[in-house]
Amino acid sequence: MFLTRRSAIAARRLTSNIKLCAWNSTQSNNTTHFGSKTVPVEEKEKLVGDVFSSVASKYDLMNDVMSLGIHRCWKDHFIHKLDAGKRPNSTEPLNFIDVAGGSGDIAFGLLDYAEEKFHDTESTMDVVDINPDMLKEGEKRAMENKKYYNDPRVNFMVQNGEVLDKIPSDSKDVYTISFGIRNFTNIQAGLNAAYRVLKPGGIFYCLEFSKIENPVMDLAYQQWAKLLPVMGSIVANDYNSYEYLVESIERFPDQETFKSMIEKAGFKSVGYESLTFGVCAIHWGVKV
Ligand SMILES: C[S@@+](CC[C@H](N)C(=O)[O-])C[C@H]1O[C@@H](n2cnc3c(N)ncnc32)[C@H](O)[C@@H]1O
Repeated sequence: MFLTRRSAIAARRLTSNIKLCAWNSTQSNNTTHFGSKTVPVEEKEKLVGDVFSSVASKYDLMNDVMSLGIHRCWKDHFIHKLDAGKRPNSTEPLNFIDVAGGSGDIAFGLLDYAEEKFHDTESTMDVVDINPDMLKEGEKRAMENKKYYNDPRVNFMVQNGEVLDKIPSDSKDVYTISFGIRNFTNIQAGLNAAYRVLKPGGIFYCLEFSKIENPVMDLAYQQWAKLLPVMGSIVANDYNSYEYLVESIERFPDQETFKSMIEKAGFKSVGYESLTFGVCAIHWGVKV
């Protein structure tokens, strides 16, 4: 049937709303998913914490196994596309927050980019993570690189991204989150918290695994994903964490559904870019 552009957009919105309802219904008031398992809501945070405590010291290895090393290119593209930093003609440094940012990959990358491109050495960064072991990993890297360690511009904080109770409302210019939000017990609460802490005009910017749009590529990826827990047990002696990571990717909403959730939090000018056939995607929105 021929669809006009307007009715095609309406049909797409309807489909993503139906998917959003279906996705919400997989979480009841008392239970949620942990990978493929259904667990009491209050247990998930600890289970996710155990996974990241277990992989923290081999964090790069985990990412390289999960993405065949491509995560470095995705993160690089994410930082360049955001193009953030205090412009030379501006008097106001930016206040960044990188949530679920334990490794520091994105936080340090953003500050390096702002310095290299805009000579910005004033903008500040809160690196926020629920897991102290992951934050320690980020601090260790800062110490090894002799950059951003004991730096008054950079603040490492243990915080639940679903609440961000130590972050004042309307205080941040840029909120980033990379490969973190799919681990939240309540993703919508995380998006609402992002909206709360951003200043009007602030940008929400997220990198996350997503849904492969090409069926042939999807089939190939499914086969690869089946091998990942085995690879995890060989290279890191950790089958269970890698099994959780694969299942958390499978459970995460597709591009259109996640876009609807970002809109539901109140963001405008919401959009996304799929990367590597949709293996992951960059999502954004602006608080007006
Ligand atoms: C795959 S790592 C991503 C780290 C980093 N952003 C990167 O891209 O390399 C996922 C991170 O999410 C954190 N995390 C999970 N649930 C969280 C929550 N509710 N609030 C804050 N951080 C959370 C984990 O502790 C872990 O450090």
